[in-house]
Amino acid sequence: MTKLKCIITLVLCTALASCGANDSGSVSTPDHTTAEVSATAVTSAKTEVEVIFDETTESQQETDNSGYPEFDFDTKTVTLNSGYEMPILGIGCFSLSDEEAENSVYWALSDGYRLIDTARIYGNEEAVGRGIQRAIDEGIVTREEIFVTTKMWTSDYDDGEAAVQASLDRLGLDYIDLMILHHSQPENDVQAYQAMEKAVSEGKLRSIGLSNYYETEDFDRLVNATSIKPALLKNETHPYHQSKEMQSHIAQYGTVLESWFPLGGRGNTQTLFDDPTIPAIAEAHGKTSAQIILRWRLQAGNIAIPGSSNPDHIQENCEIFDFELSADEMTQLTAIDKNERFADY
Ligand SMILES: NC(=O)c1ccc[n+]([C@@H]2O[C@H](COP(=O)([O-])OP(=O)(O)OC[C@H]3O[C@@H](n4cnc5c(N)ncnc54)[C@H](OP(=O)(O)O)[C@@H]3O)[C@@H](O)[C@H]2O)c1
Repeated sequence: MTKLKCIITLVLCTALASCGANDSGSVSTPDHTTAEVSATAVTSAKTEVEVIFDETTESQQETDNSGYPEFDFDTKTVTLNSGYEMPILGIGCFSLSDEEAENSVYWALSDGYRLIDTARIYGNEEAVGRGIQRAIDEGIVTREEIFVTTKMWTSDYDDGEAAVQASLDRLGLDYIDLMILHHSQPENDVQAYQAMEKAVSEGKLRSIGLSNYYETEDFDRLVNATSIKPALLKNETHPYHQSKEMQSHIAQYGTVLESWFPLGGRGNTQTLFDDPTIPAIAEAHGKTSAQIILRWRLQAGNIAIPGSSNPDHIQENCEIFDFELSADEMTQLTAIDKNERFADY
């Protein structure tokens, strides 16, 4: 399919040097409290967010263009269609043991991350809750300053209300910032989504969304049967599976795309790190391949949640706010898309 490439240029007041624990800045949260974020303002910067739109009708392009949420590289957040601000970089907790999850969450919050991604099926929601509590107890963050995402597993879809409450209990929270359905399941995902809508009205969930909807028709099926537009779609997205068509499609709903497996997932990272295009760009910026991939995801308008149990990697992955990929580098990275997934689920 022919594509039309649009470059949306965001003029930023500041660029952020790093997310080291000693730096600080502030973000206005949806309830108008002030959230401290780790950031050092260093200089004026211009950052380009590249979005590829399908070449359909002109009006469709305009709708898509205007609807896709814009990333703010100053505050490191995006405003969701629910009105809440969400950090654009977070820590992922898939396949982490309880001990690893607790430590990774604690280290990430200490490094300045404010977004945490877990799921009922990961079996580590309680450990994630402990990592959050540790950081709160030590005065590193407050509850209002962080954004917690969890996912409802498919076997819970028949009783979504109980699933929401169970995740709240395991996390030790009285609200969840974002809950998403983990997979498309046409026989009962509408029912599960409606349970999440009810939880929004009760204040248990702030935003709701979807994961693993790869066909535009499937995404529309769910949207057309429910009331609240998904704030976010989380799909496998990385240099070899860039999801450009889906990103263009969901723009009309104001839905933002989040990237799982941003680095390819465990066992696949080296494949991406060794792609000739990536190390060349990394060398030019004095950065690692991981940092180039993550920065590229953000500039392409995708929230990234790299997973790690290694404190050095966790710190490295958030040091991506002190440089910018050029339009040419973005184009080079866009060109290595193979439309191939690593996972088969
Ligand atoms: N919705 C879904 O269906 C779904 C599915 C999968 C994942 N997810 C979410 O997405 C998150 C990210 O996916 P993922 O964790 O599976 O894969 P990933 O982030 O693409 O890759 C994780 C792998 O990268 C390594 N790594 C991380 N930072 C690195 C660095 N700077 N240098 C070298 N290696 C590095 C990690 O090893 P170390 O531990 O040694 O750092 C680990 O092996 C998950 O944690 C989860 O929250 C969602």
